[in-house]
Amino acid sequence: MVSFTFFLGFAGAIVSVLGSSGSPQLSRRVLHEHRRSPPIGWTLHKRADPDATLPLSIALVQPNLHNLESYLLDIADPDSPNYGKHWTPAQIAETFRPSKESVDVVHSWLMSDGVDPARIELSDNGQYVRVNVSVSEAERLLATEYYVYQEDASSTNHLACGSGYHLPEHVSRHVDVVTPTIHLGRLTASVISSSQGSTRVHARDVRRTSQRMQPPPLSAKPQDSSGGCSTFVTLDCIRELYSFDYTVGGKGNIGVVELGSENYNGKDMDTFFKSYVPDLVGQRPKMISIDGGAENMGQTNGNLIGESNMDFMLVMGLLDNKVPVYQYQIGNNGWFDELLAAFDKQYCSDAGLTGDSSCGGTMITNVISVSYGSGEDEPSKFLVRTCNEIGKLSLGGTTFVVSSGDNGPTAIGGQCMGSDGTPVDGNGNFLPGWPVTCPYITAVGATQMQPGKSTSDPESASIYFGSGGGFSNVFPRPSWQDRMVSSYLSRSAPNYGANVYNRSGRGYPDVSANGAYTVIVSDGSISESGGTSAAAPIFASMIVAVNDARIAAGKSPVGWINPALYSSTFANVFNDITIGSAPGCGTNGFSAVPGWDPVTGLGTVNFKLLLSRFMALP
Ligand SMILES: *[C@@H]1O[C@H](CO)[C@@H](O)[C@H](O)[C@H]1NC(C)=O
Ligand SMILES: *[C@@H]1O[C@H](CO)[C@@H](O)[C@H](O)[C@H]1NC(C)=O
Repeated sequence: MVSFTFFLGFAGAIVSVLGSSGSPQLSRRVLHEHRRSPPIGWTLHKRADPDATLPLSIALVQPNLHNLESYLLDIADPDSPNYGKHWTPAQIAETFRPSKESVDVVHSWLMSDGVDPARIELSDNGQYVRVNVSVSEAERLLATEYYVYQEDASSTNHLACGSGYHLPEHVSRHVDVVTPTIHLGRLTASVISSSQGSTRVHARDVRRTSQRMQPPPLSAKPQDSSGGCSTFVTLDCIRELYSFDYTVGGKGNIGVVELGSENYNGKDMDTFFKSYVPDLVGQRPKMISIDGGAENMGQTNGNLIGESNMDFMLVMGLLDNKVPVYQYQIGNNGWFDELLAAFDKQYCSDAGLTGDSSCGGTMITNVISVSYGSGEDEPSKFLVRTCNEIGKLSLGGTTFVVSSGDNGPTAIGGQCMGSDGTPVDGNGNFLPGWPVTCPYITAVGATQMQPGKSTSDPESASIYFGSGGGFSNVFPRPSWQDRMVSSYLSRSAPNYGANVYNRSGRGYPDVSANGAYTVIVSDGSISESGGTSAAAPIFASMIVAVNDARIAAGKSPVGWINPALYSSTFANVFNDITIGSAPGCGTNGFSAVPGWDPVTGLGTVNFKLLLSRFMALP
């Protein structure tokens, strides 16, 4: 046996003996992942109890991920002969299954570092090596220190590494991420059994993106859309704005994501339907509970029904409820991870859902609409891994539509970034949104009708709030966006300091739709809402209608649409938005200009043209 001592400066001496296939082998530990500070809203509380138990999950590197974008372009580029030929779940699982070598290397490392092989388990999909360890054991294996972090808002606790963790160099190459480690705010589930008690983890700062609007000074009746659309946006106004005149036949489906206690009020739905779509009175979305997400239709708290009421009134209303509308209700303060894990068992450990009933097997709809968002201030390996998972699910033919946020160039209102990458109050660098910066998501910004104008006049960027947009610090600008975004950068980009926004990042949003004065019913009365929260379900409904027509014609649903939207084939589909801006972080932010811009994307769509372009594709 050869022993080897390595100093990490903070944790003292770490003794590591590494061997595989009989021959002892040495490898120095390298920093595998780190973060600079706890994300916004979290404070370091105290050192973790060394005897607490951690379900350590070592996610192995997935082969072929570097080809993910080209696999996707092969089926999503409008010029590709394989357009629309989506993959089966089995094909996706096989293509990205980790190699036996990766499994063996991690196994030998754990054994040589003193973990009894009987305790080590390989997940049945081959994606994770799992072992239950004490905090002190984890600290030794990963050359790190664990602390308890507290979320300021909820006082919930979370175990996480102080700054970074280390792996032997030869192991590091085979490991994607280890959890729970640095990812605060990710649900790592029933993490702890110790004297600290149960510290169920709270989701990070995820905001719904709906806006409550002041009632307009209006004499128009809600039912009357003629002339009143600039201050009272009904379903008919939306149809007029986007030439969304389509009779849904009943093919395809859509899922709308709701979080925690946010839920629609059944009575409100009926009051809305009675006024605008009488045939739908009594109809409801189909509930799919994820990680304990519960139905709570009697809810009347305006803060908890506003988002969900609006989402379903828009989607069911615009589609006449002629296709199944599912409600993905995510419980336990969960967020995007839970959703992905519910679809893909291979992703479950990332979401801490091992063995949970919400792990894999949940039906995935053709279109998923999400009106919640957070910021990109999380470890980049985690963001990339989540985004790749979205890409893998997109290979199966799903379109992810997400609201771009309501705070202009920063994902979280009033919060910008300091030069060292940590959050600061007030002025600072822009904070891009999440998950909208993932290139496999279609990000939807918000527009608004100009005061007193009609549905045939051009809209402006939303005035009431700043439509979310900007450039990712994690995801580079994809090729399909290059032509449009480069043109914006060279002609119209504002000249702020070098690090205020990232000129090489993926630009968002991709498209936009109306997000102001949206007529809904809330707690019994007709009222108005809005936000990119309205824009996302409006756009998503149009994609559902496109799928309906394609499926009826014997074609596949559209799946990932971004390369098509930016292609020259779709050039005339958009109503370019050239008025308005989205200020923030002590700057004027970005402005809407001709062509793509980081406020309204390519613009709003003319549905008739959008449909004809997608119908012309194979
Ligand atoms: C870890 O502990 C949990 C809870 O006791 C158990 O369900 C799980 O199977 C264990 N995992 C391993 C790899 O032993
Ligand atoms: C800018 O974005 C690129 C990805 O396109 C990234 O590699 C780089 O680190 C980002 N810069 C900053 C300062 O975040």
